[in-house]
Amino acid sequence: MANESEKELAGRAAAQLVRDGDVVGLGTGSTAHFAVLALGERVKAGLKIVGIPTSVDTGNLARSLGIPLTTFDEHPAIDIDIDGADELDAQLRMIKGGGGALLREKVVASVSKKMVVIADSTKVVTTLGKFPLPVEVVPFARAVVERKLISLGATPKLRPKRNGQPYITDNGNYILDSSFGKIKDPQAIALALSETAGVVEHGLFIGFASVALIGRGNSVEEIPRKS
Ligand code: 5RP
Repeated sequence: MANESEKELAGRAAAQLVRDGDVVGLGTGSTAHFAVLALGERVKAGLKIVGIPTSVDTGNLARSLGIPLTTFDEHPAIDIDIDGADELDAQLRMIKGGGGALLREKVVASVSKKMVVIADSTKVVTTLGKFPLPVEVVPFARAVVERKLISLGATPKLRPKRNGQPYITDNGNYILDSSFGKIKDPQAIALALSETAGVVEHGLFIGFASVALIGRGNSVEEIPRKS
């Protein structure tokens, strides 16, 4: 079971890595929430940063805490991105998108000098794939992408909202939560999905993370990227 205090420890530790003047990628999800809260406290205490949020929810939270926001027009590069993960392995390959923000999360990660992944200890796995891989698709292409996912060995399920209607991302798309069981070759699946027309983005994040901070019991374990 995910552990709230481990999430908070990881989130707070990551917020301490932010320096005056940084452009900060603000992640989405319950662990990133703790990092944004801690950054809000630091901003109140005088830290000067600007943030680029990875979702409407995170933008609203940051605004409510007084964290100034910016855009890629003003700041095309990000100094440090702090974001959660649904699963990560020893090579810091990840599944993300449980919170539905994978597209903006990947755009932010792609222009970040440093990506700090924060998670509780339940997220660390030997092989990715137990967590269904979120795949964001344009509504028009849902059936096409579903068939492609099945051909790749997955069982896709259209993510529902609480009212039973399809969940709609911040970008107006659907999400197919795709159970693979075990993803033996994440790079090959990532490539196949990137080449599928109608896929806007998938939740495999490979080669983005610089370091992971994992809340484990009462401490934070640091997993560096092995190059
Ligand atoms: C949102 C994400 C989150 O980072 C991921 O789902 C982890 O969330 P949480 O910290 O709540 O477990 O990718 O799209």
